Amino acid sequence: MTMADDLAITSVLKESRSFAPPKAFAKAAHVGSLAAYEKLWKASVKSPETFWAKQAKEHLQWIKPFKKTLEWKRPFAKWFIGGKINVSANCLDRHCVTATRNKAAIIWEGEPGDTRVLTYQDLLREVSKCANALRSLGVKPGDRISIYMPMIPEAIIAMLACTRIGAMHTVVFGGFSSDALADRNNDCGAKVMITADGGWRKGAVVPLKVNVDLALEKSPTVKSVLVVKRVGEAGGKITMKAGRDFWWHDAVDSMANTCEPYAADSEHPLFLLYTSGSTGKPKGIVHTTAGYLLGATISSKLVFDLKADDVFWCTADVGWVTGHSYVAYGPLSNGATILMYEGAPNFPDWGRLWSLIEKYRVSILYTAPTAIRSCIRAGDQWPNKYDLTSLKLLGSVGEPINPAAWMWYRKVIGGNRCPVVDTWWQTETGSIMISPLPGAVSQVPGSATKPFLGVDAEIVDKNGKPVGKNSGGFLVIKKPWPSMLRGIWGDEARYKEQYWSQIPGVYFTGDGARRDKAGNYWIMGRIDDVLNVSGHRLSTMEIESSLVSHECVAEAAVVGRPDEVKGEGIVCFVSLQGGLAPSDKIRDQLKAHVAKTIGALARPDEIRFAEALPKTRSGKIMRRLLRDIAAGRQSTQDTSTLEDLAVLANLRQEED
Ligand code: WT7
Repeated sequence: MTMADDLAITSVLKESRSFAPPKAFAKAAHVGSLAAYEKLWKASVKSPETFWAKQAKEHLQWIKPFKKTLEWKRPFAKWFIGGKINVSANCLDRHCVTATRNKAAIIWEGEPGDTRVLTYQDLLREVSKCANALRSLGVKPGDRISIYMPMIPEAIIAMLACTRIGAMHTVVFGGFSSDALADRNNDCGAKVMITADGGWRKGAVVPLKVNVDLALEKSPTVKSVLVVKRVGEAGGKITMKAGRDFWWHDAVDSMANTCEPYAADSEHPLFLLYTSGSTGKPKGIVHTTAGYLLGATISSKLVFDLKADDVFWCTADVGWVTGHSYVAYGPLSNGATILMYEGAPNFPDWGRLWSLIEKYRVSILYTAPTAIRSCIRAGDQWPNKYDLTSLKLLGSVGEPINPAAWMWYRKVIGGNRCPVVDTWWQTETGSIMISPLPGAVSQVPGSATKPFLGVDAEIVDKNGKPVGKNSGGFLVIKKPWPSMLRGIWGDEARYKEQYWSQIPGVYFTGDGARRDKAGNYWIMGRIDDVLNVSGHRLSTMEIESSLVSHECVAEAAVVGRPDEVKGEGIVCFVSLQGGLAPSDKIRDQLKAHVAKTIGALARPDEIRFAEALPKTRSGKIMRRLLRDIAAGRQSTQDTSTLEDLAVLANLRQEED
């Protein structure tokens, strides 16, 4: 598949392609017709408080009922005021008084092939033990716990244990570097860390504990560390600092297996999750208890049409918001069985995902376009070897999915039988905002289609005026919704500025979009300096500050360029300190430096050396020009040594 094929397919698809929900699927679905969806949606945006109050009573179990549905003092929302609730009790205890108690909550497979199954009762006991261990380490409600784990059941146990005692977790993706981990620990003042000796990835050990040790040299607020023994001897020697580091099997396993859930206020802070914005500093997105849980619960149920007998597999890492809402909280709150897999999709070969689906009879698969495109590249022979007939629904998330990949997913993985839901949302929104309800809304390759219930989306110009059909504009949300972010940790001004000031009166998503005649939304991607590399969000500024922290670099500018597999690739234009000549050695050093300071996910695809960076007369770097050069739309004829961008800059002064 090439981009050219894709363009051809897109133009064909524009004419007619849309897939109505299969009749049998619609008949059994929670929402089974377009009319039913439209009726629900209209009522939900007309009277959001009535709608959400009803959902909150129906879908959540309250310790104390709420008195008032919403207090909205823009841009600050409080939902379900006066209510008391516990997230872990909703995900576990309520299922342990029904037949669900002995149902598998987590079916887990490690990369080497080892397996574990935890029923809801098992999970409740493990979570209670971990919660008791955290309490014995002095953790109090509101304290921050940083979690840096491989994809093993203890990652979910740790998250739920925090919620059980009212502590906030901040999960840091295991692919982030020790520096990135230290920054996050410091920003939120984490008191305890939970990690593992390592995790398995592509047959090798990811040295998590070594990274933690390095991070803790720079993050003094962390007083204790719980360490799961995952890889043992294979990970080499790790050090356990006496009085600070405790093996999970010593500190947790001996604890009592019951723990009274903390009665959290609806607006009690639940977790923090760092994500990249358009500055050099990641922002800690704050989510609170009841509203977040409601969003995750109801969207899991309706978007994936979740039923009691489903086996739900969301391939995201718990280090991302998708792993929070659709690996852990949403499915567990619904009493579903989830599959969790530790390792790489191509280990030992490209058949791994499909073999897992066959082995566990997975019925719902939720993954990212990058993964789908990598599988296309690896070849149909891999999925074709396995029985994928257990699948009933497919989902996509994290980046725009190109129609050709969508069509392949539907045909080769879904056997032309499964609805495909392209779900648009963000770390900030907490749960899915735009997506077809699979039994109700026709699916259109490349479009996330219609807003979820209660979501009042619009496409506007920079003054907030709606643009016409099929015109591009800014995607905004006009009304507050329960799972929306409540702020940026420690930075109220940035919260107001980033999300609620750029376009008057509404939440600004940072994405461009258009809406077609049928009312379907087409997401066009970020319009700010945020890159989306393999569905992971990275800030160009963060990479630039990493580059300029290297002794050889005078100036750096980072832009994205289209990438057939990863969606976007990272291209860095660098001018070196006086007297230094460009070389492959420096190029490699710079790539390694970025990977070391941020994480391997930020490793540049290309470093290009320039005499000086092209600037406008007022001194702004000409990013649009650099993007064109990076994408090959404009040639400098010279990528080997030192590019002279000044000439091009002179031709393009209109950017000023
Ligand atoms: C950004 C949010 C949502 C969880 C994973 C990413 C892009 C997300 C889609 C989609 C087109 C998408 C947007 C958004 N994005 N889903 N279905 N189609 N673009 O969360 O790291 O907070 O990133 O990802 O640009 O703003 P995130």
